[in-house]
Amino acid sequence: MPISKLEFNQLNRVLDEHTGIRLNFNKADIMASRLSSRLRSSQCSSFNKYYQLIISPEGKDELDVFVDKMTTHETYFFREQVQFEFMYGYLRQKKSRNVPLRAWSAASSTGEEAYSIAMVLDDLFYSGNWSVTGTDISPTAVEMAKEACFALSTVQKIPKKYRRAYCLKGTGQNEGTFTVNKSIRSHCNFCVDNLLKLRTVDYSFDIIFLRNVLIYFDEAKQNKIIDNIIHRLNHGGLLFLGHSESLRKKRPGIELIQPCIYKKVRL
Ligand SMILES: C[S@@+](CC[C@H](N)C(=O)[O-])C[C@H]1O[C@@H](n2cnc3c(N)ncnc32)[C@H](O)[C@@H]1O
Repeated sequence: MPISKLEFNQLNRVLDEHTGIRLNFNKADIMASRLSSRLRSSQCSSFNKYYQLIISPEGKDELDVFVDKMTTHETYFFREQVQFEFMYGYLRQKKSRNVPLRAWSAASSTGEEAYSIAMVLDDLFYSGNWSVTGTDISPTAVEMAKEACFALSTVQKIPKKYRRAYCLKGTGQNEGTFTVNKSIRSHCNFCVDNLLKLRTVDYSFDIIFLRNVLIYFDEAKQNKIIDNIIHRLNHGGLLFLGHSESLRKKRPGIELIQPCIYKKVRL
């Protein structure tokens, strides 16, 4: 079903209000195709009816699905592996096993990034005093991250030694999937949060991964997100961005130490 400019603008406004993402009208066809199955399952005969549904109190659950459908969740284990190797080397010389260490996968999607970080931290500190928090705007993605049930075809991205140590192949009903072991999961927690107005993340971190999410925002919003993130990075802590992302402008106390890897230093 084609989407009119008015309908596109209505839905785009809801998307902006909830995620901060604003699409250009040249993405109208993509919006229409991502939502077409939702119109059918919610029995809406037009995009305008669907818009009316998601802004109504009864449409709260569908609003979550709308946000999920309109955001891009592509992710995989050990994406940009060199960054994980860098983190391993950096932490190995810096941290003693007993010092608490907090990591944050900001925009964690379905959890692969957070669990990759957790495997490296467990390798370094065993079941010591460390934790990984994953946050994402999509409630559906956060639920999937908590569930930690991944397609077996994606396990190859995990380095062999971690695959052997931490991954469990599903059987019976879970054939064709794998999960990560209990010990890794017990160090990870996931919640819904919006990088533009963080509510749940009110503490600071030694490691922050903010990868492949800035690209969806305009410059002003990117700056707001980066301010929110840097504010929550401890001195001596590391910030990892995606390979096509940058901090855009120089920020006091933030040094580029490797491509797309920044360190917070005391001024
Ligand atoms: C492409 S994924 C990146 C996943 C992971 N960081 C990686 O690099 O593999 C982008 C994620 O950002 C999330 N996202 C979009 N807008 C957001 C916002 N305002 N606050 C938090 N997460 C957001 C999406 O739901 C999506 O799961």
